[in-house]
Amino acid sequence: MEFVGQIVSGAFGEILARQKSGEELEIGELLACDEPNGIQLLQVYDLEYGSQIQPETIELMSGLRLEGKGEKTSFFEEELRHYVLAKVKGLVTVRGGKAVSTKTLPKFFNGLRRIRDADLSFLDKPEKPLFLGRLRSGSKAIDKRIELDGEKVLSHHVLVPATTGRGKSNLVKVMLYELLDKDYCGVLVMDPHNEYHKSLKKHAKAGEWLKSYSPNPEGGQVSLRVNYAALKPWHFNGVMPFSEAQQQTLHLAYKTWEKDWITRLLAGDSLGDKVQDVTLNVLQRKLGLILDGRVFVKNGSETIVDDVTGHLLDSKKVVIDTSRLGSEAELLVASVFTNALFNRRKAAQTDKPVVSIVLEEAPRVLSEAAGANVFSSIAREGRKFGVGLIAITQLASLIPREVLANLNTKIILGNEMKQEREALIASASQDLSTDDKAIAALDKGEAIVSSVFSRFAVPISIPLFEEHASAAAASAPARKAFV
Ligand SMILES: Nc1ncnc2c1ncn2[C@@H]1O[C@H](COP(=O)(O)OP(=O)(O)OP(=O)(O)O)[C@@H](O)[C@H]1O
Ligand SMILES: [Mg+2]
Repeated sequence: MEFVGQIVSGAFGEILARQKSGEELEIGELLACDEPNGIQLLQVYDLEYGSQIQPETIELMSGLRLEGKGEKTSFFEEELRHYVLAKVKGLVTVRGGKAVSTKTLPKFFNGLRRIRDADLSFLDKPEKPLFLGRLRSGSKAIDKRIELDGEKVLSHHVLVPATTGRGKSNLVKVMLYELLDKDYCGVLVMDPHNEYHKSLKKHAKAGEWLKSYSPNPEGGQVSLRVNYAALKPWHFNGVMPFSEAQQQTLHLAYKTWEKDWITRLLAGDSLGDKVQDVTLNVLQRKLGLILDGRVFVKNGSETIVDDVTGHLLDSKKVVIDTSRLGSEAELLVASVFTNALFNRRKAAQTDKPVVSIVLEEAPRVLSEAAGANVFSSIAREGRKFGVGLIAITQLASLIPREVLANLNTKIILGNEMKQEREALIASASQDLSTDDKAIAALDKGEAIVSSVFSRFAVPISIPLFEEHASAAAASAPARKAFV
């Protein structure tokens, strides 16, 4: 048996194994330990030196070498006396081809080997797959597709946290590309950098499954125009802060003028003595700032909200190009569509197909400061109605803990900020307390998936979108994957 290490001491979750000389174990590496009734899969989470020689002797020897008084001095049987100790933890136990939680220690002094294809036969393809990447051992990708149950994962929300440039958008593009022609889910994508539409239109079935809206429509895109009459006072929640008096005025205007409320407010019409002029003026100015004339219009485009929600309930992938809009106008558009969708869903007797909403810089609406809004309601109770979020962020720590805990799948990419890693580890579905270093060391495209729908925190390697799309276009191989 080709052992790379041997268990020498430790405790549950912190087993110490000696590395075989000539082998090089990596942080994050997956190892296997054969047991009489199955296989334990383990993962290296830390490495340190071990030695049989007293530290004073080692220091003296290095002094002799460094000071030129014995360059040739060496230890007798060096590879036996000095070694690397790997700290490993059990990830999952495979018994009769099924994955079960690890609850025992592997046999003392047992050998550890690298994982083989046959160890991973328990990773099978769910009926409604959501592809995330390939299994990763340390920095090596293994040719095993990692797919979770998409219906469950999407309705229970996904968080994609990472420092800038670590591959959040790339991951979401890969996920959406694979989801594009799946009829079990609709996706609304707010696209502030006009990157998702450019990428997804490369899909062979984009003509049928992708719907794209833009203020400046090009080839196949639909004009993004929202009629004032589609706006409701509560659509502004989480989008722009209003004082108590301003809030009340918005509601009074809506009650008084109904679908003309925005037009009349902008025109400076009076609401009677109950509202001070100064309040009206401030509101007029704030609304003027947010209601970008390229998108929000007094006349026309009465059906866009029904059209978009209809597409979503029809499992289409709808991308909204907001690249030329301000952050607030983008959020308002998202809020209008999401409110309409959520209301239709609440009124309907079904939670299928699941609809997911992709939002960049999600703390804009999910942080404490954003207050209650449709997105935070979805984070709390969307799953009951089959509506979920894919929340992308550099700053997960701004999202309150109870909301973070509700985002049941976290695809954690590299992050050098300790505070961010702490927030993620504290809210993960598996115990990631020993993975702080591994998360800090994740390279572009490497991630750890912590999900209530997975037996263990799965290390994955995400393909570069461009390569993935060309490979997918070139072939449609038989695939195996994972529950
Ligand atoms: N899986 C990957 N494999 C190889 N390279 C990658 C991968 N993911 C991302 N990259 C590289 O990193 C660059 C940045 O990736 P991406 O735009 O996805 O990062 P991001 O996290 O979305 O950044 P931002 O916070 O700026 O939005 C990409 O242009 C690509 O070159
Ligand atoms: Mg990005």
